[in-house]
This record gives sequence, structure tokens and C-alpha cells, in this order.
Amino acid sequence: MLVTSKELLWDAHKNGYAVGAFNTNNLEITHAILRAAQAKRAPVLVQISAGAIRYAGLEFLPMIVAKEAQLVDVPVAIHLDHGPSFELVMQALRVGFTSIMRDASKLPYEQNVAEVRKVVEACHAVGVPVEAEIGRIGGAEEHVVVTDREALMSDPDECVQFVNDGGFDFLAVAIGNAHGFYKGEPKLDFDRLDAIHAKVNVPLVLHGASGIPDYQITKAVQHGISKINIDTEIRYAFATTVRKYLAEHPDQIDPRKILGPAIDAMQAVVEHKIEIFGSAGKA
Ligand code: G3H
Ligand code: ZN
Repeated sequence: MLVTSKELLWDAHKNGYAVGAFNTNNLEITHAILRAAQAKRAPVLVQISAGAIRYAGLEFLPMIVAKEAQLVDVPVAIHLDHGPSFELVMQALRVGFTSIMRDASKLPYEQNVAEVRKVVEACHAVGVPVEAEIGRIGGAEEHVVVTDREALMSDPDECVQFVNDGGFDFLAVAIGNAHGFYKGEPKLDFDRLDAIHAKVNVPLVLHGASGIPDYQITKAVQHGISKINIDTEIRYAFATTVRKYLAEHPDQIDPRKILGPAIDAMQAVVEHKIEIFGSAGKA
């Protein structure tokens, strides 16, 4: 069933588990995510980015997610991932997204707040929750030196201020996470996460979770993360499975035969993530 992300993430926040937010670009990925959620009886967010919208068109992906959501009996939210503009947010609301991220984190603080507030006002008017993100700029200013690692991290006091000023529903934090595959093992800053979690009373979001070892994901959930974003590992399962299948069946031209194993492989990835996020059986 189709729901907004608000009830999903507040239940996770109160009960100490995280809901998976998985990116889709096509029918096959959507099938894999929804089949995994149904098999694991897990609530789930299916995320669509601006790039996915450029690829598939504005209406197609939310349409298939909404249809599939009707066919399963676990709660599903359709989330705009890293919404880059007010205009795209409005378009997403028009075609049925039930969860919005407005990512203005590259802008200076006041502009980030202003952009987020504008979106919050519109989204809340139609009952749709909003995720926002705050980042830090590296370099040195006066006596304050921000190392490269610290430069990417969310400051706990700034998070509190941002939540108060922005009026949004979920906060994406930077605690050593990054998009795409990591060079070497990532090391999440759990002390920083604890400080943010202690001060901020909205569900917290971890982006860039592909490639973070399971034990650190488990710990992140125990330390207060309620939504976890996965894209790269799904893409990797898709691409490697298709490549392998075509190498073994060079004459195959039936897309159903070529893509079927990839759906299974992506479903396995999503099921495993649901297990380690603690959301299996929560629907
Ligand atoms: O917003 C989407 C993500 O944060 C996914 O990150 O590609 O590293 O899994 P990932
Ligand atoms: Zn992200």
C-alpha cells in the first residue's frame, strides 16, 4: 500500500530500526525492491532522483511504483531523492510522490534554510514530509582549520539550528559517509552521530550506504539512524549479473531472459539490506 514516509520513519525512529530507501531507474529495479520488501514483510521507500526522472520521464517511475505498491501488502513511500529545485518538487507532488528530499546543502546556510522552508510549506500543505541535508565546507579560516574528513561532517549544534530554522521532517547527516563505492573501509563517526541524535528530535538519514560494512550499518542503526539510502550496490548487482549472463549466453536476445537474473540478484541485495537495517517483519 502507498503511504507517506512520515509514519514509516517515525515508527523506525521510536522503535530502533531503519527503513531502507532504495533507488530505482526502471521496471526491473522496482520489481526487485518491491519483491524484497514483500518477501521480508518490510516497509520501504522507493527513491527516484532527478537523473532517474531525466532518464525515464517524470510520470513513468512513480506510476509503476504506485501500481506495484497497490499489489503488495507492505507500506511503500515514493521518495524524491536529492530534489534539486522547488520546481521539480512541485512536479513530483503533482505526479504522486509521497516523500520529498530538497537538497540545497551546497548553498550557504541561510539560502539552504530558505530553499527548504519554501518546499516545506508547499509539501506540508498536502501532507507530504520533507528531508533536508546540511554539509560543511573544507579549508582553513582564521584559526579554525577543518580537515578534509571533518569538512564533510555535520556539526551537531548546526544540525539543531537547521532543524529549528528549516521546519522539515528528516535530517540527512554527514558522519563519514559518501556516495558511490568507498576507497578503503569507511569509518563512520559514531560519537558525532550520538551527539546529533541526542540533540535533534527528528529521524536521521544515512546517505551513501553502499559499501559500508554490515557491522557499521548495524551500529549506525543502534546509534539512531532511521532511513538508509542504497543505490550503488543495486546498480552493481544489475550490471555484473547482466554482464555475466551475456558472457555465458552471447546469442541470447530476449530481454526477459537477460534481465530476469538481474532482478533476482538485486532482490537478494535489497533483502540482505532489509535484514541488517532491522526492518524485516516490521510491516
Ligand atoms: O541518495 C542516494 C544514496 O545516498 C545512495 O548512495 O549510491 O552510495 O548507495 P549509494
Ligand atoms: Zn544520497
